[in-house]
Amino acid sequence: MIDEIFDRAKKSITKSRNLKELDDLRVKFLGKNGEISNLLKNLNKLPKTKRSEAGKSLNQTKIIVDNLIKERKKYLEKLELENLLLKESIDISLPGRNFEIGGLHPITITLNRIQSIFEKNNFSVEIGPEIENDFYNFAALNIPSHHPARGMHDTFYFDSKTVLRTHTSPVQIRAMNNNTPPLSIISLGKVYRCDSDITHTPMFHQIEGLVVDKNINFSQLKGLLIDFLRSFFQNNNLAVRFRPSYFPFTEPSAEADIECVICNGDGCRVCKQTGWLEVLGCGIVHPNVLNVVDIDAKEYTGLAFGMGIERLAMLSYGVDDLRLFFENDIRFLRQFK
Ligand code: FA5
Ligand code: MG
Repeated sequence: MIDEIFDRAKKSITKSRNLKELDDLRVKFLGKNGEISNLLKNLNKLPKTKRSEAGKSLNQTKIIVDNLIKERKKYLEKLELENLLLKESIDISLPGRNFEIGGLHPITITLNRIQSIFEKNNFSVEIGPEIENDFYNFAALNIPSHHPARGMHDTFYFDSKTVLRTHTSPVQIRAMNNNTPPLSIISLGKVYRCDSDITHTPMFHQIEGLVVDKNINFSQLKGLLIDFLRSFFQNNNLAVRFRPSYFPFTEPSAEADIECVICNGDGCRVCKQTGWLEVLGCGIVHPNVLNVVDIDAKEYTGLAFGMGIERLAMLSYGVDDLRLFFENDIRFLRQFK
């Protein structure tokens, strides 16, 4: 009887094709109710004289079967591992996968370039909040609530006192509150106006510049801006012209045009055939503004300017629609890497 079981066990263990089959065999022969275990349990039904002999041979068989299973298990495990390695093998001759390295947005590149030009000239950088109150965005800048100049900015209001800043000029007030003159600061950041077409987007970037010192005059303002524009456009002969203009917070005020960098002044679609492009507003800080921040207007004078960054980026990259900067078309953005 035991010999017959042993033969069957050995044969089926040798034939088992995977770990599951093998484990089923272990249960079948050696498990709690396995064939060998049952024989062991029934030993006491044998005549006493035969018991010890049968017990010995049963226990030996049990050990041998157990060893056969362990050996087969090792073999099957090795086989499974080899199959797995075969399936998951790596073809090291395949070309590697490329890392796509991202690039900075053209507006960020432009902001960084402008900032570094001014930092070389000892301007420090001030940052102001994008959510502003009426005082900083308008009133302190000599634009009281009834003033028609409020209409020049299509303002996004949160409530009657809180706005999304419409320009970076409120940082002028904050800078003069936080520092004593002489001071030279720039501030770069996002501004918002309810405005949208080829040359206007509801969010855009400005850079503000402010210098407060004794004996400041308009020719210093002109010289500073001409130097900046020539340095930014990398053209020492770039033509710049100043036109009288109006801002409530500067007097006198001007706007500056550069010769169209697309057509070199010949006239084209971008400059609307004029040969000139407006790039900034500027002026001598109005005494009313200095009064608000307790700077003596008899002793100190300020010069200030504000430029649209997208406008400068468009011109330096030759992009003819401002909205392209904000559509996040990867084919457009890749060109600036
Ligand atoms: C101002 O915002 C003044 N704060 C500038 C200033 C500062 C004058 C200091 C004097 C002293 P203006 O509204 O013109 O001015 O805007 C300045 C520039 O921002 C414009 O020349 C233009 O290039 C850009 N700009 C204005 N609106 C938009 C818009 N919706 N989208 C993109 N760029 C705009
Ligand atoms: Mg303007």
